[in-house]
Order: sequence, then structure tokens, then C-alpha cells
Amino acid sequence: MTLSAVEVKKLKQAPPLEGVLPVVLSRWSPRSFADRDVSPADLRRVFEAARWAASSSNEQPWKFLFGTRNTPTYTKIFECLVGFNQSWAGSAPVLILGVTNTKFTHNGVANGYALYDLGAAASYLTLQAAALGLSSHQMAGYDHDAARKALEIPEDYALGSVIALGYQGEPAALNHEQLIEREVAPRSRKPLDEFVFTAWGEAADLG
Ligand SMILES: Cc1cc2nc3c(=O)[nH]c(=O)nc-3n(C[C@H](O)[C@H](O)[C@H](O)COP(=O)(O)O)c2cc1C
Repeated sequence: MTLSAVEVKKLKQAPPLEGVLPVVLSRWSPRSFADRDVSPADLRRVFEAARWAASSSNEQPWKFLFGTRNTPTYTKIFECLVGFNQSWAGSAPVLILGVTNTKFTHNGVANGYALYDLGAAASYLTLQAAALGLSSHQMAGYDHDAARKALEIPEDYALGSVIALGYQGEPAALNHEQLIEREVAPRSRKPLDEFVFTAWGEAADLG
């Protein structure tokens, strides 16, 4: 007997701190997705959120390719995933690949913040998804060269993560004991004093 989806959702919730956005606390990355499609209206909403991320020089260098189940783009993205990710990500009704233009469009000069900006847009996307009751799970584990080829991504574009999107499923639906264990494990994070400094190596006193 493992935990139910509802119980896991509760367990994954970050401890509350008054004033922190609820979606920041509730977003987490499941590997079990329910057999339920994402509506076109909600897809529009998650990409709209990504659209409003800040970017260097307002370049908005990101592009997102997505496929819904049983479409050629979905299959192409899925087939590029490493075996471990293929073992669970096929339950997600939507697979998204984020890519980013490494050159500024107005002058062709290298944009050193292209991946940074894509990451920001992806964060907006995943938080908006959480706000809509959707779940997302990003993956770096895929064959980047194969994805570039299969999806005809131009050389100037760097590849970010693949994002599985859908509704959280039952942990028991995962077909490996190890996957179920990870699905029901508590989330962990470094404490603030390990990464918020007032001088290098000096933890800020934030109470
Ligand atoms: C860029 C990136 C790449 C990731 N790659 C993978 C992956 O290939 N496979 C996987 O199962 N999880 C992957 N993850 C998920 C992380 O392991 C997960 O976000 C992290 O453990 C924190 O858990 P949380 O998202 O539930 O808070 C990735 C996450 C990010 C942001």
C-alpha cells in the first residue's frame, strides 16, 4: 500500500511562510500523471505566463515546441528521452521542449543570458501550471542532438529542458518500486544560510 495522490500532494507541499506565493509552495514534480488531457485554454494560460517573464534586453529568446499525446511532435520528444525518463513521462498528456536563441536578433551578437531567460520563462510556465491545478516535471535527461535533428531546431538555438505537463496521477500507477519510492519521498531544500549572503560565505540573518 502506498500513499494516494491526494496524500502525496499534501506531503510535497513546502512549509508555509506567510506572504510567500501559494504556488511556489505547492509546485512539485510528479512522475505519475493522470489520464486526463490539458485543455487548450489552460495550455494557452501556461504559455501566456511564460510570455511575461523578464529577459535580457527584452529579447524573449525562448521558443516552446509542444505535442499532445499521439501527435508527431509528442512522439519525437518522447523518443529522445533517456530510458529512465521514458519509463514514466509517457503518462503525461503534454510534452514541451524549451529552446532559446543564443544570438540577439537585432545584431547577431551572442546572448550570454539566453538559457537564463529560458529558465525564467520555464519557471513562470511551471508556476502558472501549479496555479491551474496542473503538474509539471522538467527533464534534462534526453538526447539533445537527436531532439535537435528530429524537431529541426536551428543551430543558433540552445536546448533547455523537456517539460512533462498534465494532472498528477496516483503513485501506484508507476510501474517500478523505485519510482514509487521517489514519488512519495518528502521534498528537500538547502537552508537559506547556505545561499543567501551579505558577503561571500557570510550567511545573511533573515530571522
Ligand atoms: C533543468 C532540470 C532538469 C531535470 N531533469 C530531470 C530528469 O531528467 N529526470 C527527472 O526525473 N527529473 C528531472 N528534473 C526534476 C528535478 O529532479 C526536480 O525538480 C528536483 O528534484 C526538485 O523537486 P521538485 O521539482 O519536486 O521540487 C529536472 C529538473 C530541472 C529543473
